[in-house]
Amino acid sequence: MRDKPTVLKLGGSVVTRKNEPLTPNIDAINRLADEIFRADSKPLIVVHGGGSYGHPIAKKYRIRGGFKEETQLFGFSETHQAMISLNSLLTRAFLEHGIPAFSISPSSFIVTHKGRIQRLNLKVLKSALKLGMIPILYGDAVFDDKLGFTILSGDQIAVSLAVKLKAERIIMGVDVDGLYDSDPKINPSAHLIPELSLEEYANVIRQVGESISPDVTGGMLGKILELRVAVENGIEVLIVNALKPDNIYRALRGEEVVGTRIRT
Ligand code: IPE
Repeated sequence: MRDKPTVLKLGGSVVTRKNEPLTPNIDAINRLADEIFRADSKPLIVVHGGGSYGHPIAKKYRIRGGFKEETQLFGFSETHQAMISLNSLLTRAFLEHGIPAFSISPSSFIVTHKGRIQRLNLKVLKSALKLGMIPILYGDAVFDDKLGFTILSGDQIAVSLAVKLKAERIIMGVDVDGLYDSDPKINPSAHLIPELSLEEYANVIRQVGESISPDVTGGMLGKILELRVAVENGIEVLIVNALKPDNIYRALRGEEVVGTRIRT
């Protein structure tokens, strides 16, 4: 591979309508496909989340906690199928917009250990990248060697791939403008943090960790904890609002964009 790849995570609340089960956000998907095509940033790996596809089914059958009873087997498979459906919509939109996308199913090459990725066989992914293709993966229902099965988030996949492939950066496309100093949905005077050094980042994690409400950053706690490993490995992280037109285009081009940049 010539250059260092970029990993782009598109949140489930961007590519689906969060409160309507099994409803894609077609407008956002098409607009993002156009932005990714225009940005022409390669090598690129895209990972998308579950939103109203994966999450409601996974929750109903309590998939994350692992195998307990046989009825869950149907829920496990249904969760995976829902994610395949969403992934097909994205892959098709990408292809129709001129992006040589290739869908890769995480559950077919990742088995977790208590919910965490241990090893990754990157052969398929690297072969796609080498040919100039854009692999498109997703948060998935995966087999787990302790739990039987679990839910693997797109965030964990994005970070893990970025670290293993020594990516240059991770762009997190979410439905808010970035990381705030308090929850912007509760506190109208919350401030967006435009840039954080690794040291400041560690402080934010500490503050968030110590806060009473885990949602103090606007539901970003899980995200920033997951991203920590990437930052510690020298990978720059940029959190931007992917629902705002041209943000992903600008981020991929390396242009100025409103968001939170975590510098290494
Ligand atoms: C979850 O992926 C996938 C499933 C529920 C199967 P993510 O955790 O990355 O999804 P979002 O971005 O939060 O919706």
